[in-house]
Amino acid sequence: MNPTTPTMLDTAFKKDVFEGLSSFPKYLYSKYIYDAQGDKLFQDIMALPEYYLTNCEFEILDTHKGEIASLFRGSGNGFDLIELGAGDGQKTKVLLRYFAENQFSFVYKPIDISQNAIDDLTASLAQELPSVQVDPEKGMYFEVLNRIKQYNERKKVLMVLGSNIGNLLHPKAIEFLSKLKDAMNPGDLLFMGFDQKKDPQTILDAYNDPTGVTADFNKNLLHRINKELDGNFDTDAFKHWEVYDPETGTAKSYLVATQAMQVRIEALDLTIDFDPWETIHTEISQKYDDKVVAWLANESGLEIETFFSDAKGYYKNYVFRRKEHE
Ligand code: AVJ
Repeated sequence: MNPTTPTMLDTAFKKDVFEGLSSFPKYLYSKYIYDAQGDKLFQDIMALPEYYLTNCEFEILDTHKGEIASLFRGSGNGFDLIELGAGDGQKTKVLLRYFAENQFSFVYKPIDISQNAIDDLTASLAQELPSVQVDPEKGMYFEVLNRIKQYNERKKVLMVLGSNIGNLLHPKAIEFLSKLKDAMNPGDLLFMGFDQKKDPQTILDAYNDPTGVTADFNKNLLHRINKELDGNFDTDAFKHWEVYDPETGTAKSYLVATQAMQVRIEALDLTIDFDPWETIHTEISQKYDDKVVAWLANESGLEIETFFSDAKGYYKNYVFRRKEHE
């Protein structure tokens, strides 16, 4: 390992890149894909015909917006709708429009790690839905959860769309759900999207599009290291590779070195050697079924109140409450 002074690893990004690329097998965290370019590539992914997740969730929200709205509104004293990982908010707008049209009393609080996403979303909402009260915040999931606890004045609905929880393996998902539960009062709701197990080919196709947008999205990790940490990755020398294990429901993305290479990352004073066909694991996209979601909920002190599905059963949005006596 290279000698590195502690002051060189002065950001979480530097520290995580250093650790991930010094490990065997090598890995990088998918949360670092999302800079301005990564956000744009993810929007392109959502527009791909193979990436069924977005259309399925649109269908669910649009078809069931009336029922979802009455669950959110409850007794009618108004609510705070807090969305983690709001992104471009395209899907959420289906609900926001319905709430606005029906004069619901609510505040929409979108939270995202990307300042870009937050700025664009706030601007587009001011344009398209000026009557909606928006209170945006930039931050990471775990960081903002403590502040969310302070929303105690009235009912709150926590929302995580897009199967974003799928980036977490089950133990981390339980940790995340438990933290959400801790931020909830008895009447509060958690509304969350979970991509479902299905024909493995459909899943592979969604993460392996022929136009290569997903490959570019994955490789944005290397571009970011080149740009921000003065790295010299030859991104063409890596191949995007997707695998799906139908037993565990885990889809995994890799970047595979197509030849032996040495990569230098100046800002970390780090030189990395790649053997031919050596991998960097970059992302997991977990798939679920009702039993697994019920188990995750139970482990986290939550229970499923109800759920909504698209017509094909590809995707589900679950409504959770705190379990009583926990
Ligand atoms: C935003 C994490 C839900 O895993 O499906 C899309 C990201 N990665 N194509 C997913 C993603 C490759 C996406 N999430």
